Amino acid sequence: MTATQTGSTTVTSRSLLFDGAGSIPYIKEISVRTPRAGEVLVKMAAAGVCHSDLHVINGDWPFPYRLTLGHEGAGIVESVGAGVHDLEPGDQVVFSWFAPCMNCPSCHEGKSWLCQASGAFVNGLPDGSTPLTADDGKEVRPHLGVGAFSEYSLVPRPAAIKIPSDVPPEVAALIGCSIATGIGAVTNTADVRAGQTAVVVGCGGVGQALIMGLKLVGARQIIAVDLSENRLEIARSFGATDVLKGDDPDLAKKIKEISGGGTDFAFDAIGLTSTSAALTGYLKQGGAAVYVGMPARDAEAVIRPWEIIAAGQRILGCNYGSTRPAVDFPKIADLYLAGLLPLDEMVGERIGLDSAAAAIAGLKSSSGRRSVVVY
Ligand SMILES: NC(=O)c1ccc[n+]([C@@H]2O[C@H](COP(=O)([O-])OP(=O)(O)OC[C@H]3O[C@@H](n4cnc5c(N)ncnc54)[C@H](O)[C@@H]3O)[C@@H](O)[C@H]2O)c1
Ligand SMILES: [Zn+2]
Ligand SMILES: [Zn+2]
Repeated sequence: MTATQTGSTTVTSRSLLFDGAGSIPYIKEISVRTPRAGEVLVKMAAAGVCHSDLHVINGDWPFPYRLTLGHEGAGIVESVGAGVHDLEPGDQVVFSWFAPCMNCPSCHEGKSWLCQASGAFVNGLPDGSTPLTADDGKEVRPHLGVGAFSEYSLVPRPAAIKIPSDVPPEVAALIGCSIATGIGAVTNTADVRAGQTAVVVGCGGVGQALIMGLKLVGARQIIAVDLSENRLEIARSFGATDVLKGDDPDLAKKIKEISGGGTDFAFDAIGLTSTSAALTGYLKQGGAAVYVGMPARDAEAVIRPWEIIAAGQRILGCNYGSTRPAVDFPKIADLYLAGLLPLDEMVGERIGLDSAAAAIAGLKSSSGRRSVVVY
């Protein structure tokens, strides 16, 4: 660990930075300022490699500034700003990458995943500013407001969710994105009930968590779809009852056959408009398609409204598993500690920060379990 205090106002932190589409991510020290009122400084312990960082590097979600990459992270509270009385140094926290303001109509309704004032999508604090600076004086913004590929991160209090210290940091990190999103998509967005059936298209980290969530709630049939045989094997180990190749020209026909006319739910966990748009073709009458995988910001999909209307189907958008992190993260941790969610099985290779950029690019090869940076 090379991070050091520099005076009383900043901490230096090795970080994975990205200067924009076409450039290559690189490691450099940045300065992280000390927490002000309502903020928390976290010493990172682990951060997962999620496809959303690949979207950034691919230019799917262009930003006109330098980013600290990473958003699926967990660590230990280093210090807190004024007014933070419910966290203290030494607490283990998971980052919520969609930190709610707790003060807008959606937050008041308890729907913090719909917060209208989160700093997440401007990659900063709720007031739009950033707590990070580079040594060349240029602005650095934390990806989704957290910037987890960094030895230290400074976040608003609602982004730091305390969970029990006996959850291993690698698992804690994954709770912060893929696990909360996949399980939340099943239990919150779709509200799948015992005995219902589902298709999961895309069996990376998010898809694996979807399958775990479906098993947890007692889904009777879970059909996993991926292009990668290795990912389909992993899907089976998490509870998929049937597996199909995504490039099968008869995919929809086969899903309808093995499910007896279509499933109750179909989830996309890839982010291709073609796979999202195809979901309603796997459903029975009245079924629901859930868009979890995220495409490029300006992507457009072709759907068949007449068929969707005639079949009385629904299309649901899923931001962050419709999760209320302060409630759902500790609940997921408790289910894991009680042996009801095999979250350890999601953790793949443990890597150093220096290997994070290669691991993000490596997501394209679509095999294995989630790589996790361990600090
Ligand atoms: N909605 C949200 O809040 C939210 C949260 C987290 C991640 N995401 C998004 O979810 C998506 C998945 O993330 P991940 O980290 O699990 O990705 P990943 O790269 O780990 O997994 C993607 C999987 O899709 C498979 N795939 C690719 N093309 C396919 C095809 N045509 N048919 C079948 N399978 C195919 C790949 O083989 C791979 O296994 C990304 O778009 C990510 O940005 C959304
Ligand atoms: Zn993610
Ligand atoms: Zn809000």
